[in-house]
Parts: sequence; C-alpha cells; structure tokens
Amino acid sequence: PAPGWATEADVVVVGSGVAGLTVALRCAAAGAKVTVVTKARLDDGSTRWAQGGIAAALGEGDTPGQHLDDTLVAGAGLCDEQAVRALVTEGPDAVRRLIATGARFDADDATGEILLTREGGHHRRRIAHAGGDATGAEISRALVEAVRAAGIETVENALVLDLLKDGSGRAAGVTLHVMGEGQRDGVGAVRADAVVLATGGMGQIFSATTNPAVSTGDGVALALRAGAEVSDLEFVQFHPTVLWLGPDAEGQQPLVSEAVRGEGAHLVDADGVRFMRGQHELAELAPRDIVAKGIMRRMRERGAEHMYLDARHFGAEMWGRRFPTILAACRAHGIDPVTEPIPVAPAAHYASGGVRTDLRGRTTVPGLYACGEVACTGVHGANRLASNSLLEGLVFAERIAEDVTAEDITAEDTTAAVMTAGAESAGRERPSAPAASGDAPLLASEARYEIQHIMTHGAGVLRSAESLARAADRLDRVQDDAVAQLRRDGKTAEPGVETWEATNLHLVARVLVAAALRREETRGCHWREDRPERDDTAWRRHLLVTLRPDGA
Ligand code: SIN
Repeated sequence: PAPGWATEADVVVVGSGVAGLTVALRCAAAGAKVTVVTKARLDDGSTRWAQGGIAAALGEGDTPGQHLDDTLVAGAGLCDEQAVRALVTEGPDAVRRLIATGARFDADDATGEILLTREGGHHRRRIAHAGGDATGAEISRALVEAVRAAGIETVENALVLDLLKDGSGRAAGVTLHVMGEGQRDGVGAVRADAVVLATGGMGQIFSATTNPAVSTGDGVALALRAGAEVSDLEFVQFHPTVLWLGPDAEGQQPLVSEAVRGEGAHLVDADGVRFMRGQHELAELAPRDIVAKGIMRRMRERGAEHMYLDARHFGAEMWGRRFPTILAACRAHGIDPVTEPIPVAPAAHYASGGVRTDLRGRTTVPGLYACGEVACTGVHGANRLASNSLLEGLVFAERIAEDVTAEDITAEDTTAAVMTAGAESAGRERPSAPAASGDAPLLASEARYEIQHIMTHGAGVLRSAESLARAADRLDRVQDDAVAQLRRDGKTAEPGVETWEATNLHLVARVLVAAALRREETRGCHWREDRPERDDTAWRRHLLVTLRPDGA
C-alpha cells in the first residue's frame, strides 16, 4: 500500500528486544539519528520472557574457548566457527557493557561477583541471571530506560510491512501499518540509509509455543519479499520443559527454565524414573534437542501426554528466591512445585535459522541488516545452545552499529562483503523455494489458526517426508482458498495487523516446510522420523532460500 505519511532517519531499527535496542543505543551514541519501530509496546517481544539468562565466560576458570566448544557441539556440525568465536570472545565485555547500561544481574552479597548457573549443553556454570528467573524482564527494563533517556525516537504499535529500496536496489527504509499513534496512524514510511531487522522469532507458527503473540515471523517474511537470503529455517528448537496445560493448549505457554534443571531438578516419568540417565553423559543437562527427544521418546513408550520435572527438594525458600516467576506461573495454573512434580512437554521455542547475515550483520540486500532471533548469523547451527540468544543479540548488535556508523560504507562494498562470507562457508544448497509472493492476496486472520494446526501436526518436533508433504499441500490450499475468494469477491482480506500476521506466518511456514522436506536426515533440532540418522556426507551444509523477483 502507498504510504500516507513519511519520516526520515539515518537508521531505522525494526523491533525492540535486546538486539534492536542495543543497535539503537550504540548507533545513537555514535551520532546517528535513529528511529525504533515496534509492533506492540517497546517491551512486548520475546526478550522480556527470557528466564534462564545470558551465557558468557565470566566465571573463574571458564574461557571463551570452552564456551566455543559447547556451542559447536550443540550446533551439530552446522555452526559458523568464526561467528561463534566472535560471540564467545566478545560476549563477556558485551555483558559488562550491558551492566554499565543499567542491567542488574544477581550477584553474591559479600563479594559482588555475578552469580552463574548451568543450563543444557554447558559443561560449566556460565549463565548470568537477574531477579532469579526474570533475566529478560530486567534486560528489557534497563534497555527501554536507556533508550528513553537517550531521547531516541520510538514508534509503537507499528507493524512493519515491506522494505523500501532505492534505484540501485539498496535498502532505503520500511513501510509500516501503525495503529493508535496519533499523527502517524495508518500506512506510513520511515526512510533511512540503513534498515536493521530485529523483529524476533516465529514461534506463533505452531499452536503451542513459549513465544509471545507478536512472534509471527514478520522480519523473515519481509526479508524474503525483499529478495534477501534466508537460511536454516528447518531448525526450529523445541524447549524440552514447557508447563503442560492440557492437549489443546494454544498460544503462549509458560516456560520452565533449563536453569531449574541446572540447579538440580530431575526429569521423571509417571513412575518417578529418571529416564535421561544413560541417554547422555549430562543426563537432564544434555543439549536441548537431546532432552526434547528423550522426553518425546518416553512419552511415546508410555503413551503419555507429558513427563514431569521434579524439584520438590529445592524447598519453598529456594523456589521463592531463585525461581519466583516460574513458581508464580505454576501456582496460577494450580500446580505447586514445592509439593508436586511439574507436568512438562516440549513446545516450539526458538528459530535457529533466519535471515542470513555475515559477521557484521549484513544481509544479502545492501543496507539491510538482521540481528537477534530473526537473523541467521551462523552461531546456532542446527541447534542453539541455551542462553546464547540474548548474548547473540548483544554482540551482533554492537557489530552492526559499528558497521552502520562507519564512514566508508557503500553499496558496492556491502555486496562484496556478503559474497565473500558466502564463499567462505562450505556446502550450501538452494532447495526449490515454494511459490509465494508479495503480490499474493492477504490472508484472513483466521488462517493463523489453520496454519498453526497444519504446522504442529506436520512439521513439529517429529517430522517425516509424509507429514511434511501433507503440510505443504495443506498450506498451498490455504493460499488457493484466498485466491479463490479474491476472484469471487474481487477483494482481499482487509489490511490490518492480523491479516498481515497471518500472511507472514503462511509465507514463512511454506519456506520452513520446503527446507524440512529437503533435509533428508536428522540433525540438531530437525528430527525426521523417516531419516533417523545424521548424514554428514550429504548434509553437512546449509539450505538457502530466496524468492525470485516474480515471487516464485
Ligand atoms: C530457559 O531459561 O530455559 C531458556 C533459555 C534459552 O532459551 O536460551
């Protein structure tokens, strides 16, 4: 749609989690005029919900090298080692700068040392936390306050629609659909020399997820429509321990942090048997994909809908001090973890893939950057290591800010850098991208629930060629129905946040299913029942997707 209003900035940041706000602060500090646009309120994204914490080699005896090793193992052969090296070596100082920005982490009263916990896949205590289990909320509070104090312009309730480009194909801003923000209501545009996507994840593609309602893959969908390269979408991480609220639970579900296992909780079946013992040397603290699979296997063997997390031995004092958020969420649902085991099952949690970037956060579209969950920097490979995501948001935000505010950035320079990064990374393939187009009609808002149902049954924690082909077929029909409706009525669904979200979810779901179908192996969090083995000969490579200019 044609913009009804327009404003200008040097940099427009789309999204307001740890990644977006850090980019905004660092760019503004370097003198850039920054506008942050965000779909709901500034603190409504995933960052606020992060519990366990932020991983960094801050503890005595820990080193970036050990953090690197754990990250590479979790990533199951698909991490970009250079990107991981940047993450783990720059991570500790990035956390210190976050503290200097105002975030308060839990620390020892006597020594002032930051307290560190453990999570799955980490061989050491290296997870810094805040408010016990409210790390994301504290980070969000500190960054929102800092952005306000710096006087950075923000536009809330602004759903991003599409990328604006100049005559040379370089990013030149974004179009937005804004609701309830006075003069800027309706469809408008922020024109800028650099566009930073920090829109978070796509968990709402599935029926049950730990992600908030706003996580609808808007950034990946925008990037695809803009011709940017997207990678590794098949690697959706399912968090092993999400509070089980019944077989029909939908939407955002309460997380039970890995840190609960890090502090000694046990996974047990209905008979109290610790079934993760013997499956991995780290038992309950194995990497996340292994624990999720262990739970699913036991559920199948027992015909059960969930397993249990038993932390009664923490006692009331420790529960209240260390995990107040989780304690309150469980009690709100009638479960008291002090006296009974918590029913848990895996649910969609994190997109390990996303918009492909190089080490400076540049995408394949000049002037377009991606940061945080929306990006695929290469640090997560086939399975993100627990608590590496807040850290990735911080470290790569700083890298992007440095690049955006460097004086010598040019369009030619950008293209060359991306090509080089692509050439360095071995083994890439382009599966045939499904037909999907910016010109396709908007889907009705109800399509969201149909897409979630299709994805949960066909492309969830367990997948097969058959289930994925069925999902692809049914997703096509969602689109066909919309086209038929357009022919019949001569109009598409009314433009608005819900119809755009449904349309974005649909595009991203189709690409995800195409990639999952193409990857004929089991690796990391991509679990193909019909191809149960990891196949390093054929599949130690990435699947890249771009939409052709005609949308196919
Ligand atoms: C958790 O607290 O278990 C979530 C940590 C993460 O997803 O990295």
